[in-house]
Amino acid sequence: MLNAILVVGVGSIGKRHISNFKKYFKKIDIADTRSDRLKDVSKLYKIRNSYKSYIDALKNHNDYSAVIVCTPPHLHLDIAKEAVKKNINLFIEKPLSINSKGWKELNRKIINKKLINYVAFCHRHIKYTQKLKSLLDKNIIGKIININLRWGSYLPDWHPYEDYRSFYMAKKNQGGGALLDESHGIDLVRYLFGEVDSVFAKVGNFSDLEISSDDNAYLTLIFKEKIIGHLNFDLVARHPRIYLEINGSEGIIIWDRVEHTIKIFEIKKNKWKTLNFSKEEFMEMYPRQAKHFINCLKGKEKEKIDITDALKTQNLIDTSFSSSKYEKLLKIK
Ligand SMILES: NC(=O)c1ccc[n+]([C@@H]2O[C@H](COP(=O)([O-])OP(=O)(O)OC[C@H]3O[C@@H](n4cnc5c(N)ncnc54)[C@H](O)[C@@H]3O)[C@@H](O)[C@H]2O)c1
Repeated sequence: MLNAILVVGVGSIGKRHISNFKKYFKKIDIADTRSDRLKDVSKLYKIRNSYKSYIDALKNHNDYSAVIVCTPPHLHLDIAKEAVKKNINLFIEKPLSINSKGWKELNRKIINKKLINYVAFCHRHIKYTQKLKSLLDKNIIGKIININLRWGSYLPDWHPYEDYRSFYMAKKNQGGGALLDESHGIDLVRYLFGEVDSVFAKVGNFSDLEISSDDNAYLTLIFKEKIIGHLNFDLVARHPRIYLEINGSEGIIIWDRVEHTIKIFEIKKNKWKTLNFSKEEFMEMYPRQAKHFINCLKGKEKEKIDITDALKTQNLIDTSFSSSKYEKLLKIK
């Protein structure tokens, strides 16, 4: 067993991570500005110490193997900086941040100090994402020409226990919004199709949701591999719609994260075939991700997504916001 971790932010995902990490660590500390959250989580799990300030937790203990950053995105950088000062490894929730500012400098320090740094774009850990990757690597639908990614859900349905208007997702300055939050989809297409050359985007508010963050983001991407992609993220779909359609010279593949299927059409077979997976297999992404991080801490695996990688997704997000603002197709620098 490893020694101790500090989980900063014990809302929805923080709690989930505690449930998956508890078997690997002797001691778990938590920090959250909300006393009610600290109380609830201390009742649910065996917690050593709880703090209203993560700075106090870091001052009081020298035994953390890692800090697990689970706050709204606008705080990720400051928390990571404090952990790095104390040479502590990092597990950071996605998106990396609200923008790339400050991360390159911090990442240089992290690399120099050889700290483990993992960013939780957990969709890469889904069994059927890995299956999709292996099908594409086998080239079964020939040369990829275009992709269409749909990623939509209805924000007021996310956390039935709280008013969506008070959730950080409703607030632009805290890193809420369709584009930042649903950037799992950006990580996914970069993982499958490589880096992006340019983007044209429209990001904004098109619904009656009472939020200052964006509720719709439409991105047209041109990949370096000469694939064109259309990605559309929203917070208004009255039933979750999350799928990726890939058109190749020899067929079509549809990965569906709501139905948990991969549908394949190969022209040489002239029919559709469906591979079925389960919701349980989907939810396994969290324990699989936790195991991966533990293996990174033990030196058995290299981080699947580190800050260097997550910064490429963040850069694409930043460039999409700029493209939308200036109404221009922009190169990814
Ligand atoms: N990978 C996934 O599947 C997944 C799922 C949900 C959320 N997330 C990500 O996790 C992060 C948090 O999302 P959430 O849904 O858990 O939000 P949440 O609102 O449920 O929880 C965030 C917690 O952070 C606390 N917090 C705010 N300021 C703080 C501070 N200064 N110090 C300590 N704690 C503080 C809040 O009080 C709250 O309890 C976001 O980056 C989100 O995108 C990832």
